[in-house]
Amino acid sequence: MSALPKDYSGKKLSAVEADAVVAELKKYLLDLADRWLFKGRFHTDLSKGTLPVEALKVFWQNWYGFVAEINNFHGVAYQRHLPFFKRHPDLQKHFANHVADEMIHPSPPGHIRIVLEQGRNFGLTDDEMIEYEMLAECRAFLEYYRGVLYEGTMAEWWASFCVEEAVGHWAKFFGGALRPTSPGSLKASISTSRKKGYIAPDYVRASRNSRTTLTASPDAYPGRLRQ
Ligand SMILES: [Fe+2]
Repeated sequence: MSALPKDYSGKKLSAVEADAVVAELKKYLLDLADRWLFKGRFHTDLSKGTLPVEALKVFWQNWYGFVAEINNFHGVAYQRHLPFFKRHPDLQKHFANHVADEMIHPSPPGHIRIVLEQGRNFGLTDDEMIEYEMLAECRAFLEYYRGVLYEGTMAEWWASFCVEEAVGHWAKFFGGALRPTSPGSLKASISTSRKKGYIAPDYVRASRNSRTTLTASPDAYPGRLRQ
């Protein structure tokens, strides 16, 4: 891992040392998310209330395609990595729970249902999300995962999902920016998310909260979103 000061590949680490390496990796990824995501133009405009709703819609059309396919990759990974998980049923338990979570919460077909619901609240039809041809830059994000899954090692695939922690903070930021109160800080978001141990509840809650604001009080907060 070139980003880290030391190469740990092929070395047997103690549990304490391994935890420290993982913590370092997660911090590295969160710092990247902070620099490129939270301090980026899209999020800055969103938090200031100056982001055109059209930009939000285009983003959501791309996000629909991403969620639909990344959840599919989880299922593909379950099939491809099964020989390893058969030998480690304790780990398989967590993996099975993760795949199931994507597909059944809050109800089947899972998280993708929340994405469709949220898109409708932004003024999109289901067809506008389902039939949308993703922008090349967004497609590249999926192709990165596809490449790691089919051509990378199993360790690289699972390490690549350290970035999911940032998705939880992003979802909370998104929900907060669409509500009348100022968005929560990244630090507060990290603390809440880590206590819960997994980002999906944050994601669902953030989506529901933003839905409430958009449907219940768009006139009360003019300028929050430039229509
Ligand atoms: Fe999900």
